[in-house]
Amino acid sequence: MRRKMAAGNWKMNGLRSSLDELEALAGAHPDPACDVLICPPATLLALAADRCAGTAIRVGGQTCHMNVEGPHTGDISAQMLRDVGANAVILGHSERRADHEESSEDVRMLAQMAQAAGLQTIICVGESQFQREATNTLDIIGAQLSLSIPDSSTGENLVVAYEPIWAIGTGQVPTSDQIGEVHDFIRARLEQRFGFGVGKSVRLLYGGSVKAANAQEIFDISNVDGALVGGASLSAKDFSPIIAAL
Ligand code: G3H
Repeated sequence: MRRKMAAGNWKMNGLRSSLDELEALAGAHPDPACDVLICPPATLLALAADRCAGTAIRVGGQTCHMNVEGPHTGDISAQMLRDVGANAVILGHSERRADHEESSEDVRMLAQMAQAAGLQTIICVGESQFQREATNTLDIIGAQLSLSIPDSSTGENLVVAYEPIWAIGTGQVPTSDQIGEVHDFIRARLEQRFGFGVGKSVRLLYGGSVKAANAQEIFDISNVDGALVGGASLSAKDFSPIIAAL
């Protein structure tokens, strides 16, 4: 039985005053039935970890560097994320792949470093609108999975997030059949590569315009173990009903 998960990706949003949302969220869910993770921008990570100490909310980073330390201006290593209290890190988000030209091979190296540092890795995959229209979705996802996921992955340190690029921040959500098809495909690929036990235990999140109004329908789809939420994770009022739907 996989434990459900609600992960919030604040992206490049949030000032210190936004941390009050964490207290509101923790207050609303003292003993949630699922894992709750918030990934704030790096500037807020240490403060967020302090605010969440003693609550059920864990905090995570939004990316990390492939080296432990060194001359990499502006970058943050997996060890640094651990050091400030992060338990997890999102890797290979389509915005990182697009804005920073991260390839799937890069993502695999980052994930290897992050897993070695003891972080849970949420590895994102997803097709563009163009790729979906060209009926290439499963080929694209298959290639991203084999290239981005390191061999060191286990049921505990790996979570896969399916995020169709065209659904992110657009209000457009795939049909339940479309989500189900991709999640079943990801599950089958993981079982093929890592064996039935590990493949079955990896959590699969859906991400892309998840809101209180559509969360229940999405969570009812087979092989959907939770959500990676952007916009609706910024306020406790919006994120709370999503957590409650799991
Ligand atoms: O990481 C989160 C996703 O990109 C989804 O963002 O919920 O704002 O569509 P969204």
